Amino acid sequence: MKLGPFTLSRTTGGPATVEDLRALARRRLPAPVLAYLENGADEEVTLGRNREAWRDHRVRQRVLRGVREVDLGVRIAGTHLDLPVVLAPVGLAGAYHGSGDLAAARAARAAGTRSIVSTGATHTLEEVAGEAGGGHWFQLYPWGDRELTGGLLRRASTAGYQALFVTVDVPVVGNRLGERRLGMSVEPVVTPSTAAGYARHPRWLAMQARYRRLSLANLAEPGGPRRIADTVRRQSIAMRPDLDWDDLAWMRDQWDGPMYVKGVLDPEDAALAVRAGADGIVVSNHGGRQLDGTPATADALPGIVAEVGGRAQVLVDGGVRTGHAIAVALALGADAVLIGRPWVYGLAADGQRGVARVLEILDAELRRTLHLMGVRAAADLAGRHLVPHEAPP
Ligand code: FNR
Repeated sequence: MKLGPFTLSRTTGGPATVEDLRALARRRLPAPVLAYLENGADEEVTLGRNREAWRDHRVRQRVLRGVREVDLGVRIAGTHLDLPVVLAPVGLAGAYHGSGDLAAARAARAAGTRSIVSTGATHTLEEVAGEAGGGHWFQLYPWGDRELTGGLLRRASTAGYQALFVTVDVPVVGNRLGERRLGMSVEPVVTPSTAAGYARHPRWLAMQARYRRLSLANLAEPGGPRRIADTVRRQSIAMRPDLDWDDLAWMRDQWDGPMYVKGVLDPEDAALAVRAGADGIVVSNHGGRQLDGTPATADALPGIVAEVGGRAQVLVDGGVRTGHAIAVALALGADAVLIGRPWVYGLAADGQRGVARVLEILDAELRRTLHLMGVRAAADLAGRHLVPHEAPP
């Protein structure tokens, strides 16, 4: 998508920012589903800091740099992307809109980027590969035993997935109070007592009907029960709190393509991941949904770039909502960003068109930001494009 610098300002009406799409999503989704999407762990300190920390940085405005066209292209996992924004894996996408993972993958491809299909997707990874073009990326939760995990890796490889993202920050589930209070659990079903308040609402009834059709499509046994709770029970899908670096090395052996380790916040872990054969790191605190009180990802990023940058690619997610945040992330050394909740806002608001709109907004914002900074290419962004932090008094 090639928006000129003035195109967006001429567009009137409709959602103009990610925040606008969030407002639409908030109007459409029943409270328990919205809580599941929006909430963070415990006191939500990390959730809040993720967004603020990008805003703590000032970008340099340089003028008269002769920049006619801005190039947003980057190369991630051996693939050229037209913009440095990837759709993060988000489970249960079908809960927000029936088109779920398919809409995400199609919108990503149309915008010249990729979506990372979650282990917890509500479409099978084969359906996404078959119906949304090939070359997508797969996220693995190393749940369950090696037979299950190895089987998923073989299926992803056979279906043509080109990169693997192993999520390592969920040894146990974070304490997400918003969804707990509303009765959401592994299965997106509310308890009878909490459902009472919504029971007659037409939107809620429609949502419940959709839930009954939802399954953890990648994990359900063919021909077996499709209900999420049954799948979890039968497949002994449980978090494995005792996973270690040997398990990661084993996964490395099972996967031929590029492998990224998602959910790293500490430079020592980044170095260990690279030593275990990772091609890249995703600096992430799971959108503030796991360990509360960790650094924001913008604060953790520079230390990890210093440790492994040059040896491995470094991606980052958490609180990225604007072109400014993307520019800051790249200037701090990230190769690209992932967005989680933002694409789901678009999905909930308007299916595939809504996801496309989110990507279009971020493309236009980043393009405009780079023009105003006097920077020709997103891949050129570096520390020199930020105003140095003032020394504390
Ligand atoms: C997630 N995330 C996630 N990560 C992952 O590796 N596998 C998954 O299935 C999920 N599921 C999931 C569900 C929901 C509702 C959310 C909000 C997040 C984490 C996700 O990939 C990403 O790290 C964060 O969402 C990034 O933060 P922002 O962009 O949401 O602020």
